[in-house]
Amino acid sequence: MFVHPLALCECDEVGPRTRIWAFAHVLAGARIGADCQVGDHAFVEGGAVVGDSVTIKNGVMLWSGVTVEDEVFLGPGAVFTNDASPRAGFRKGPAGWLPTLVRRAATVGANATVLPGLTIGRWAMVGAGGVVTADVADHALVVGNPARQVGWACRCGRALPDDLDCAACPRCYRLTPAGTLEERSSATGNDG
Ligand SMILES: CC(C)(COP(=O)(O)OP(=O)(O)OC[C@H]1O[C@@H](n2cnc3c(N)ncnc32)[C@H](O)[C@@H]1OP(=O)(O)O)[C@@H](O)C(=O)NCCC(=O)NCCS
Ligand SMILES: [Zn+2]
Repeated sequence: MFVHPLALCECDEVGPRTRIWAFAHVLAGARIGADCQVGDHAFVEGGAVVGDSVTIKNGVMLWSGVTVEDEVFLGPGAVFTNDASPRAGFRKGPAGWLPTLVRRAATVGANATVLPGLTIGRWAMVGAGGVVTADVADHALVVGNPARQVGWACRCGRALPDDLDCAACPRCYRLTPAGTLEERSSATGNDG
């Protein structure tokens, strides 16, 4: 683990090889896995849980109740929330906070806001500036305020064309009868 001399890391649960850069603040009670990057001015509150190989770009805010699975990318300025109806004079405490789950390898674009109590699916892609007000399906590409699904994202991050064969990597997908996206072949093997 590397903590820049100008970072404030009060947390003793940071995994190996994770790097915490200048002016980031990680509170006691947070958990951060191995091989993560925590950029300048990021804030990770106690109770936030971050998996392995997660990129937390500059200025990201992660509050108690937010869980981020392995390989997630959080773009600069992405903001999470845990209180749907905050009032300074009516504090709810942890029992009133709503949890958020960002599933494996999802991306949250720069300056996006994720409202409380939601799940962002595996390999989902939230466009820059999106305001996420509902759960996001695995591989869904969502943009705007409120964020609406406009397509599907490949594991590699590229938006998929209409035929769902990625133009940037060998992966191909199909829609299941349930309306979810399923990978149907991969020349690079299946890594889970
Ligand atoms: C959402 C995103 C993944 C779409 O990628 P894409 O499919 O290649 O997008 P395109 O540039 O082809 O644009 C497709 C359409 O979506 C619109 N669009 C693109 N990004 C958008 C966004 N973030 N919010 C709203 N609309 C967006 C475009 O204006 C375009 O609209 P049009 O068809 O009416 O002209 C991408 O634009 C994005 O926001 N990526 C995240 C970048 C980021 O935050 N990086 C952080 C690390 S630095
Ligand atoms: Zn691809």
